[in-house]
Order: sequence, then C-alpha cells, then structure tokens
Amino acid sequence: MEKVQSYIEANKERFLEELFDLLRIPSVSADPAYKGDVVKTAEFVAESLRKAGADNVEVCPTAGYPIVYAEKIIDPSKPTVLVYGHYDVQPPDPMDLWESGPFEPVIKKTKAHPDGAIYARGACDDKGQAYMHVKAFEAMVASEALPCNIKFMIEGEEEVGSANLGIFCKENTEKLKCDTILISDTSIIANDVPSITVGLRGLSYLEVEVTGPNRDLHSGVYGGGVANPINVLCDMIASLMDENKHITIPGFYDNVEELSSEERSKMNEAPFSLEEYKADLEIDDVQGEAGYTTLERTSIRPTLDVNGIWGGYIGEGAKTVLPSKAFAKISMRLVPNQDPERITNLFAEHFKNIAPASVKVKVHPHHGGEPALTPTDTPEYMAASKAMETTFGKTPIPTREGGSIPIVALFEQVLNAKSVLMGFGLNSDAIHSPNEHYGLFNFYKGIETIPYFFKYYAEMK
Ligand code: BES
Ligand code: MN
Ligand code: MN
Repeated sequence: MEKVQSYIEANKERFLEELFDLLRIPSVSADPAYKGDVVKTAEFVAESLRKAGADNVEVCPTAGYPIVYAEKIIDPSKPTVLVYGHYDVQPPDPMDLWESGPFEPVIKKTKAHPDGAIYARGACDDKGQAYMHVKAFEAMVASEALPCNIKFMIEGEEEVGSANLGIFCKENTEKLKCDTILISDTSIIANDVPSITVGLRGLSYLEVEVTGPNRDLHSGVYGGGVANPINVLCDMIASLMDENKHITIPGFYDNVEELSSEERSKMNEAPFSLEEYKADLEIDDVQGEAGYTTLERTSIRPTLDVNGIWGGYIGEGAKTVLPSKAFAKISMRLVPNQDPERITNLFAEHFKNIAPASVKVKVHPHHGGEPALTPTDTPEYMAASKAMETTFGKTPIPTREGGSIPIVALFEQVLNAKSVLMGFGLNSDAIHSPNEHYGLFNFYKGIETIPYFFKYYAEMK
C-alpha cells in the first residue's frame, strides 16, 4: 500500500490538472445544445481509463448518451468490483450567480474547505468523485497492487433519469457481472466526520398544466369573471400539504416505512448543528413535517416540492393579463416501500380531482426512481468502513441521505449485487447550485481511500 500512496503523492498535481481538463467540457445532459460536449466527455473518460491501464475500454452507444465501459480482470477466480459513476452534469443556470465560470475551474478557499476547493459544475457531482476512481485505479495498476478484478461503468444520463442505463444493464448482465458495486456520488457528514450512505430516497417527478380560458385575456375586462389558472394552480399546490406539512394525497403514506424509536434516536445522534445549518443557508428558521427533526425530514420522510412554476407575463414592466395557462414542475422524494409509479398515479388522480370545473388539468410524468437501502453487514460495507477508518482515523457513521440515485435499486434487481455508497462530498458543496465546488481534501482523500477499499474487500471476500 505504501507504493500506491507514494505514487499518488508524486502525481497529485497532474491528477488535479487532468480533472480540470475534464471539468472544462460542459457535459450538460439536460440541454441538447451541449450534445457534442457530452459525447466528447465520454471520449475523455474512456481515454483516461485507457491511459490508467484498463482493458477493453469501450464507449458504448445507447439511444441517448454513451456509457463508458472498461475493465481489468487480473484473475477470474478473484472477486469483481463494478465502479459506477456519471460524467454528465446539471445545467449551470442561473449563470449570473456564478462567481467564476462554471466550466472554468478555479481553486478557492472556503470555511468548510480551508485548504481550497475546486469550483466548477460537476466538481463534486460527479466528475470529481468519478475521477478519483480513475486515479486510484491508475495508482494501483502502476504499483502492481490491484488486488481484485475491476469494471467501470460511467454513464452520461444520470442527471436526466438514467433512462438507457437500465436497458444497457439488462442487455449486458454477463459483461457487468460483479460481486459488488462501488459508487462515490454521495456525501460525508464533515471532513472530520466520515460517513457511508446506506439509504437514498426515490423520486416521482412530473409536470402539470392548468388551462383556464382558451386565450390570454384583458385582466380588467375579464378579471373576476373567469378562473385565472395561475391563481388556481397556486391554490391546488397549497392544498397538497396541510398545516403539519403532511402531504394530503390519499394513499400517499400507505406503505411508508416507519422507523422504530431506537432507529430514530440512533440516527439523530449523528453530529448535526441546526444553528450551523440555518447560518449556512441564511435562514432564521427551518420548516418541515411536524414531529420530525431536520435530519429525519431530509432522509427518512417523503416530501413534495415545486421545482419551477410559470405562466402569464414575466417580461419587463407590467402587462395586465389574465393568462390562459399555468405550469409547474413538481417532485416528490420517496422513502422505502413507496413505489414511484404508484405515487405518480396517485398524484395525477388527486390533482385532477381537486381541480375546479373552471379549469382543465393535464399531468405529464417525467422520470422517477426507486428508493434504496444498502446493508451494513456485507463485505463491501465492512471494507468501505475499514478503508475510511484507515484514512480518516475514525469509524464512518452509516447515514441515510435525501438525494436519489435511482439506478442503485435497479443494480440490485438486474445485476443481483448490492452497492456501497462511499461518497466524499459535503452537503455544503452546492451541487446542482451555482458555485458548485469540491474540496481538494476530499478529492485527495477519496483517491487515498479507494485503494484501501480494494485491499480490504479482496481480503474479506
Ligand atoms: N449525486 C446525486 C444524488 C445525491 C446527492 C445523493 C447527494 C446523495 C447525496 C445525483 O447526481 C442526483 O442529483 N440525482 C438526482 C436524481 C435524478 C433522477 C435526476 C436527484 O437526487 O435529484
Ligand atoms: Mn450525482
Ligand atoms: Mn446530481
């Protein structure tokens, strides 16, 4: 292991420069304007795996963006780890809130990252974290210290629902055959409080369209006489939660997993400061479902949020208009035993039921995803735990997180293997927001920790 770590130490600067090159390619999967760049990013990742020493590197075409596959089989009788990550990123918008260009990486110091952080879209989610695996692999190969087989599957559609990854997995079960899946696309509690993610929420995402009169109207001539679809949409959305911030859709909580009071008090023992949380977000108070703590509200409880709402006149100045249509994008985060398809249907049915006769309602489902729980009694969890303990000097805490990686549940079903979520980001790293960043400490700590995971996993399996 000494050789691996000294290889990393000797090549630190180059690793960072290479990551900067990767971050400069704007791989925004949601916006077709970036199509060429997303494909270029896949090529970049493939080339970096080739240079690191991987065999059979392929840029596999799909109906959407390509999936990068690579492998190094040292001995078929040894265990195989499949590393999953994504090279696509969220749109950088709103652009004017970035302090430096989203695709012009720079290092800046922050309170959470006194040693500096890499500012760029995708720095943490997930280019920076996926690239740690490429570099850890390079170090293991160069030091002849790869202790088991490794496969890589880095996709380009995670941020838009991974529609083609499921198909790819189903069509390539033999090629992807593995004993476990290792993913770095989640957070740790703090740089001195390591944690391993053992739960992710699911997702149901949809768009609603409310139509009032057949055309935009003069808000004086018609105002007061016909339904304004924006007003109606606001009423309808407001009614989706009661005064306890309980979601009112009938059947919504039917299958929700209730944690025992022991489990709940255990999870609330994790270090968390409500004061720091509020200060970081510059809010005077938090808000959420009655009877639950902030940690619980953001991990083990389902939610409903409007992600965007529009309609009518939003240009300069004032226009007196009573619009014909109003729209909203709505997401629901789901917890174990809630089925995204069922929830989407329940929402659609309820939303149509509560619409007054003065409007027409359409509901368009987008992507969804199943929640996931990963066990702690597996060799992969224990290997990750021991690896982090080695490099952080503390045993990591198992935590449930609020975000979603829908493909984790699918991996278990299709590849029949469990995942281990050994991420290195911080919740304050502004993923999906302007000024996303990733600590240099975290980038290097990840590269340092990953080879230990492989070592311990090979020993335990
Ligand atoms: N890496 C995130 C998910 C995440 C972030 C999990 C932090 C835990 C902690 C992932 O890239 C993501 O953003 N997923 C989407 C889901 C998807 C279907 C668009 C999400 O959670 O919104
Ligand atoms: Mn991600
Ligand atoms: Mn993301």
